[in-house]
Amino acid sequence: MVDANSTSCLLLIILAWTVYYLLNKLRAHGHNYPPGPRYLPIIGNLLDLAKLHGSTGYQRLAKEFGDIVFLSSFGKNILVVNSSKTAHELFEKRSSTYSCRPQSVMSHELIGWDFSFAHMPYGERWNVHRRMFHREFQQSAATAYHPIQAEEAHALLRNLLQNPENWESYLRHNAAAIIMSVTYGLKVAPTDDMYVSLAEKALEGVGMAASPSGFLVDFFPFLKHVPDWIPGASFRKKAREWHAATIGMKDIPFEAVLEELKMGKAAPSFVSNLLNEQEPEKNGEVEIIKNCAAVIYAAAAESV
Ligand SMILES: *[C@@H]1O[C@H](CO)[C@@H](O)[C@H](O)[C@H]1NC(C)=O
Repeated sequence: MVDANSTSCLLLIILAWTVYYLLNKLRAHGHNYPPGPRYLPIIGNLLDLAKLHGSTGYQRLAKEFGDIVFLSSFGKNILVVNSSKTAHELFEKRSSTYSCRPQSVMSHELIGWDFSFAHMPYGERWNVHRRMFHREFQQSAATAYHPIQAEEAHALLRNLLQNPENWESYLRHNAAAIIMSVTYGLKVAPTDDMYVSLAEKALEGVGMAASPSGFLVDFFPFLKHVPDWIPGASFRKKAREWHAATIGMKDIPFEAVLEELKMGKAAPSFVSNLLNEQEPEKNGEVEIIKNCAAVIYAAAAESV
């Protein structure tokens, strides 16, 4: 049973590999791509991609090939932009061409990050999320959050005065406390906060999936269907764990706010303000509010 399955799976992989290679050849033909490392038969720049860990790998590429470097492997094209000048040129001045986001099977489909408007493709769905975010965080609305920041700044100063040697954990706590308060009106524990740990776990997966050589499933999307017992399919187990953390990160603090709103004791926050405005349930906006809140919270957890 298992043998027959493994053989057909292997054949399938070889077939898909060949098809990808041929398609790739066809696509590359006639295109004028920027310079980059030599494109090897079948694997393309896979070996170069595997070497791209940390900033030194990218610096080496720029030194050798210039300010814009092109790599490609199995249909995945990657452009490495070395300087802020070029980044500004492409992503600011020509943002209508380049503001789309690549879609990763691992992070979007398996880990569940398709909720995040920071990772969404440019389009209507992205637009409604961005507008919701802007409603509470445009400059005129953001001043409403000054008291929260002042209160946490005072707490930080008091802590620093008492135990200056703990400055690092106080600074981390300060960032997490402000953002959880602004986003959900929730307090965080001084150490090992549940919400912060959840976000860190959820971010671990997208962080790894975002690396250019990330996961094989991003080169061969059909691999998302392989059964768990196939050697090398451990990414599925990891993806499930990260998916659970991602759902928890989105749902748990949000539901805490719903509960507080029901009891009439929710503090003003991004979530409670938007839920109190107009009628989000009727307009199908609850999910959008929840998604935007999770992006803010995740971005903050990453920076603490
Ligand atoms: C890459 O960027 C660095 C930092 O901005 C710069 O010093 C270097 O000259 C750039 N390399 C190329 C090839 O443009």
